Amino acid sequence: LGQKIIYYKEIGSTNNEAKLQAAKGAREGTIVVSEQQGTGRGRLSRGWYSPAQKGIWFSLILRPGFLPQEAPKCTLMAAVAIAKAIFTITGIEVGIKWPNDILYNGKKLVGVLTEMNAEMDRINYIVIGMGINVNVSNKEMPEEIKDIATSLSEIKGETVSRIDLLTQVLAELENLYLLIKEQGFAPILKLWKQYSVTLGQDIKVIGVNETFYGKAVDIDDFGALLVDTGEKIERVLAGDVSIRKA
Ligand code: BTN
Repeated sequence: LGQKIIYYKEIGSTNNEAKLQAAKGAREGTIVVSEQQGTGRGRLSRGWYSPAQKGIWFSLILRPGFLPQEAPKCTLMAAVAIAKAIFTITGIEVGIKWPNDILYNGKKLVGVLTEMNAEMDRINYIVIGMGINVNVSNKEMPEEIKDIATSLSEIKGETVSRIDLLTQVLAELENLYLLIKEQGFAPILKLWKQYSVTLGQDIKVIGVNETFYGKAVDIDDFGALLVDTGEKIERVLAGDVSIRKA
């Protein structure tokens, strides 16, 4: 992965560009990376703050041949790859909040946005967009995220090499992707659970159509979160969760 790198100094969104490239036939493993994004996108139609030279803003094109409902596997894989790479390069131990936010002390460090195109019931391509707050200073962050976001340099108190980290993230992505191809999804799920800060917690789920409370008990083989509401087990495929404070 990452043998072909499409590099920009500035672009709207690397995910948009990667989708265009994929539609034009770009091969699996191609990445689109930019120093800065003008209209970086987050999940649930949110924006993503992507200042110049301060983070790793990139998108990876994969063609796994999965069923569309298996797409979350790629997202969970990406979160695990980044968590491992962050530990290798900085020694920082992060947690993963379902489905794929990487947190440190409850503050967001990394976001993953996966988008796909399916044809004839199979994924044609999947674009995994990853935003890593590497050297973003807390002071510069927009008001809306100041209290809920952090960066590696804020945690370490020193600048972290973006190139070293990106190289490590790509190496981990490649390892895990090969692992899925050889052994299926179980090993990734196991790793994901080790990093999870969601499982076992009382949570509030803001789903696509409804909001409810329950205990996060497990994730299933498709990456869906299983929530025990006391009456039944709800299966959550998309949405946002927050840890409920008593
Ligand atoms: C989220 O947590 O809401 C997901 C954020 C994803 C941000 C990354 S930055 C690179 C790629 N291009 C985008 O426009 N978004 C993703």
